[in-house]
Amino acid sequence: MNAFKKTPFVLAASLAGALSLSSAHAAEVEVLHWWTSGGEARAANVLKELMEAEGYGWQDFAVAGGGGETAMTVLKSRAMSGNPPSAAQIKGPEIQEWGELGLLGELDGVAEAEGWDTLLPPTVADIMRHDGQYVAVPVNVHRVNWLWANPEVLEAAGVAMPTTLDELFAAGEAIREAGYVPLAHGGQAWQDATVFETVLLATAGTDFYRQALVELDPEALGSATMIEALETFKRLRTLMDDDMPGRDWNIATSMVINGDAAMQLMGDWAKGEFTAAGLTAGVDYLCAAAPGTQDAFTFNIDSLAMFRVEGEEREAQQALARLVLEPTFQEAFNKAKGSIPARPDLDMSEFDTCAQRSQEAFRQTAEQGGLVPSMAHGMAVRADVQGALFDVVTNYFNSPDLEAEEAARRMVNAAQAVL
Ligand code: BGC
Repeated sequence: MNAFKKTPFVLAASLAGALSLSSAHAAEVEVLHWWTSGGEARAANVLKELMEAEGYGWQDFAVAGGGGETAMTVLKSRAMSGNPPSAAQIKGPEIQEWGELGLLGELDGVAEAEGWDTLLPPTVADIMRHDGQYVAVPVNVHRVNWLWANPEVLEAAGVAMPTTLDELFAAGEAIREAGYVPLAHGGQAWQDATVFETVLLATAGTDFYRQALVELDPEALGSATMIEALETFKRLRTLMDDDMPGRDWNIATSMVINGDAAMQLMGDWAKGEFTAAGLTAGVDYLCAAAPGTQDAFTFNIDSLAMFRVEGEEREAQQALARLVLEPTFQEAFNKAKGSIPARPDLDMSEFDTCAQRSQEAFRQTAEQGGLVPSMAHGMAVRADVQGALFDVVTNYFNSPDLEAEEAARRMVNAAQAVL
């Protein structure tokens, strides 16, 4: 039978289907993000479901790739063709870059109605505004400087959770002797940079971190302290395994979950993987500030920036922005994502112990000056500088013959070339 020849009944049914489909999708948002691992996808789904419960359609524009580099490339090509999504996961100073291009739409109506100015800490609110207007909404606060561990593997090796870099190397040796991979890692530029910035923080402290990775001070970038941090960073390779090149971060986390590896240095999106695997914090897995960084909190705030759209799409987009800061979303999303809520007024008693510690650390470090933006996660410098630093860090880490002195020189040049 000709597929196009339909009986009146079938035709009516499919017409009705098409009509209800078009009305359900009349007001919809297209959202670009890179939340594609097990834990991330569970978290993203919370927003989709909340939008659908309010009668809006959700077009998922997920672009795989940890750290979001691929997602940003895809976003640029969509925006250049004049067809950006309604919202995109854009963070930190990059929000300003998109704002300067005149492509972002404002959220001031929602922000005022919902009292964002009082809900959000000023550090967070400032990042979300361009030219004084809200153009993005924060979904969470991730802490980057964490160490995750499998307690059974630590026990089998007879070691405790390391609190300093020296302890980490010593524990690593014992773990290796016991037959496990000490440190799970994925050899990708952004993961190398994530570990590097944590080692720099542990070696040199928050003031130096800011001078080097936020202010791009050539003296700090080329200093003996930087060289020492680079050397320690490269020494961490001795704790990693040979199969790391190209490995995704969540595969590295699964090595810790499965007991093949003891530990991972990674932001708390890794906790999303432990949670998705049904594991309990403090029992089945351990979290601690990355060795030597107890007094610091490297923050990474995920946010959805809104593109300039019109009509029903704008209506749906404003609803999306409102939902994101409501308690229902903040609680459900962040429990799945591993982060803490972007608004500090929520009850954390239902969160796991790692999240509670993260919130306490955020509060304390904010008061004591230990809060620093993550370079590896786009919070410290603009995208071109970040890209140049990534190149230096990853080339150095993966080139046995490249000396730390040379890498530090390249860092100075990289920062100057793009200033
Ligand atoms: C994002 C997280 C994400 C992680 C891994 C980070 O840059 O902020 O939301 O889970 O990359 O993809």
